Amino acid sequence: MDLRSARSALLLFPRLFAVYVCLAFVLFSSAQPPLPIPPVLTGTDIQLTLQEGTWEFHPDEVVPTYGYNGDLLGPTIMLDQGQAVTLNVTNTLPDLTTTHWHGMHVSPMNDGGPHSLIYPNTTWSPSFTVLDRASTFWYHPHGHGLTDYQVTMGAAGMIIVRDALEAALVLPRTYAIDDIPLILQTKAIVGGMLSVHTGLDSVVVVNGARQPLAEVPAQVVRLRCLNGSSERTFHLGFENDMPFHVIGTDGGLLAAPLPKTRLRLMPGERVELLVDLSGMQGGTFSMIAFNSELPNGIIGAAEVGNGMATLDGYNDNALNGADFQLLSFSVTAPTSDPITSIPAEFVPVLPYNEADADLTRSFTFTPEGTMPMEMIEGPFEINGALMDMDVFNEVVPLGSTEIWEFTNNTMVGHPIHIHDIQFNILDRSGMPPEDWETGWKDVVYVPSMGSARVITRFDDFADPEMPYMYHCHLLMHEDEGMMGQFLVIDPNAIGETKAGQRTMHVWPQPFSNGRLNLRTALLNGNLNVVLRDAFGRIVHVSTANFTEGSAGIYPSQLAPGLYAVQILSRDGQLHSATFIVQP
Ligand code: C2O
Ligand code: CU
Ligand code: CU
Repeated sequence: MDLRSARSALLLFPRLFAVYVCLAFVLFSSAQPPLPIPPVLTGTDIQLTLQEGTWEFHPDEVVPTYGYNGDLLGPTIMLDQGQAVTLNVTNTLPDLTTTHWHGMHVSPMNDGGPHSLIYPNTTWSPSFTVLDRASTFWYHPHGHGLTDYQVTMGAAGMIIVRDALEAALVLPRTYAIDDIPLILQTKAIVGGMLSVHTGLDSVVVVNGARQPLAEVPAQVVRLRCLNGSSERTFHLGFENDMPFHVIGTDGGLLAAPLPKTRLRLMPGERVELLVDLSGMQGGTFSMIAFNSELPNGIIGAAEVGNGMATLDGYNDNALNGADFQLLSFSVTAPTSDPITSIPAEFVPVLPYNEADADLTRSFTFTPEGTMPMEMIEGPFEINGALMDMDVFNEVVPLGSTEIWEFTNNTMVGHPIHIHDIQFNILDRSGMPPEDWETGWKDVVYVPSMGSARVITRFDDFADPEMPYMYHCHLLMHEDEGMMGQFLVIDPNAIGETKAGQRTMHVWPQPFSNGRLNLRTALLNGNLNVVLRDAFGRIVHVSTANFTEGSAGIYPSQLAPGLYAVQILSRDGQLHSATFIVQP
């Protein structure tokens, strides 16, 4: 037997085992737990308490967990577009955390990224107006290096935003009756503890219950699916290839329903589906991850690494490359006022136009190391750097329309997420995106050794000091540094200084040539000064000798426009300011 066939013989056993496990669940469906439904929180003042708890994933196996307002996961937050809301997040964990409103268009201060740390036994209370379209978002911790562990422990919840356009459509929207939240995850339990060694994930959970059973009425039903896994992609479909309609993606409804039998949902992504169960009363059916059909290179497929190498333990995980059940449904009597047909049109999607782009920003992913193993496992760099909390990698002018181009020179596919905005996918490795991906998205699949381009606009929120994040949503990649920071700055707010030591004064303004004066508290000695143009490109680097916070630099001729000056002090603080150059 050669090596290759020996390996495939080894592969066969776990696959057969997975099929056997699925069959066992179908045959003994009475053993299935019921689908838990997260409670709903509404109103203008919402309290979330992140706490420790315990959960029984297997009968008689109690493991320590985290949850918001409970032992695992968190309530569904239901918001209306245009309303004001204050979200009070109290951290009772023995650890730092943050809470990020994934997908929502909020200011950097309210976004809950890694700079908005919530210390133990304190409360963070962002307050904002909901600007988003009707969509399915989610919330989860986002502390740098802490995300995978805290999400794995169970901290995550769904956010449903409603708006008037969606409300005018004849769509199922009775929560838990014909509008069902489904948080799809796999978990690794090692030695009685949830583990971030996600390669060992063997427990398939929906809303925290292992391959549960949901009761749904015999009519049109809406399923809001969120892939909340750390790494695993699900190639969604139903038993017997039952068709479904995709009606919405990460950031809103599609223009019209799209009939499909399969859909690839990567970590961080959401999709809203309709299934028509009219006349099916008394029947049952399952939602399946048809992961035998995933292309190699996506975590969850039969193979990652293109035969060069593979992740530790990958081939021993029975779920990889296998089809397995996520949950099953038992169809009950229709409700008194059922929805029985699927509207032909929803709301127009007006995508950004490539011709309106002010620039293209390029991001290239490479492994930090050069061994074949590191091509698959990471850490992965973006434009040659790992995440650094003190470096603003990009500076985006408020109001600009930009194409972000992601090139993946690694052996795994990455779901890339951008905070603040929703985008449209222009293309993937030069080909049009899939039909269901043509609406609003905040996560894009960038295939192994391939690329993707997205277009968006950075409106409404600018902050010269607090950045937004962009990152891979495979949580181990994110925690290991496959993340960068961008500032959105308002060219018209020049000269405004903010309280705090890190703000610098720059004069004369406007600047043309000669000496550019810098003054900031605390700095002394020789420090590097970096100038970036409005597109974030470095245009000047020099060393300046600071005396009691003051120094001058002599940049060579700068083109008219907006610039940022940045200095990293020896204590790791980033000092920054913006200035304008005029001829
Ligand atoms: Cu869902 Cu930056 O995260
Ligand atoms: Cu996000
Ligand atoms: Cu990644």
